[in-house]
Amino acid sequence: MPTTYIPALKYHFLTPFYDWFIRLTMPELKVKNRLIYQAQLQPNEKVLDFGCGTATLTLLIEERCSSGTVIGLDTDPQILAIAQKKISQKKSAITLLTHEGSTLPFPDCVFDKVLSSWVFHHLTTAQKITAFKEINRVLKPQGELHIADWGKSETALMRFLFFVLQVFDNFYTTNDNVEGKLPDLMQKAGFKEVEILGNQSTLFGTLSYFKTVKCSS
Ligand SMILES: C[S@@+](CC[C@H](N)C(=O)[O-])C[C@H]1O[C@@H](n2cnc3c(N)ncnc32)[C@H](O)[C@@H]1O
Repeated sequence: MPTTYIPALKYHFLTPFYDWFIRLTMPELKVKNRLIYQAQLQPNEKVLDFGCGTATLTLLIEERCSSGTVIGLDTDPQILAIAQKKISQKKSAITLLTHEGSTLPFPDCVFDKVLSSWVFHHLTTAQKITAFKEINRVLKPQGELHIADWGKSETALMRFLFFVLQVFDNFYTTNDNVEGKLPDLMQKAGFKEVEILGNQSTLFGTLSYFKTVKCSS
């Protein structure tokens, strides 16, 4: 049975405006390119974009990972339809998959890297742990998880801006992020130590770049 999920801009009727909104309010391409740079993608790698939304990051991954396999996965069929349109226009070989929210539709140990931007603040604590466990399962030993998402606020101004986002968005899925709990939740799901490779001030608060690795055995 599909798990409930929060659409990209909270309400389904806003989904067609997601690309426009994020480009206008966030340094979207800078964030996604920075995440890709952080992941040091190599040709021939198999890469998953977890919660790919409209596939902007997925398409950038494909550009950097020529001859590799790139898969975008999301729970929302409406946003995947937008992603599919963009992918068809670019004649891309990306595969898009719908995810029912718990078990990922892949066998164990198949991906070299999993990337994800602005997804985990949409998940409850239990959903975050499930997702991290599943990502851990589908990564190869020493495979890497790279995330760009809201993190612990660096300044009082960032905390205030994130509070405003929480009022419009919600508190129950975003609190883990701002309380700095994502690294702990990743480790609870079986990952090695988590590095925070950067923090960036934005209009909606501090965005953090996380990296962690699957244990060898
Ligand atoms: C704010 S959007 C980010 C989309 C894209 N990653 C980006 O950076 O533009 C969050 C996305 O997470 C997806 N999502 C929510 N719950 C999910 C889950 N359990 N598994 C996978 N994707 C999920 C939503 O459908 C939405 O497309």
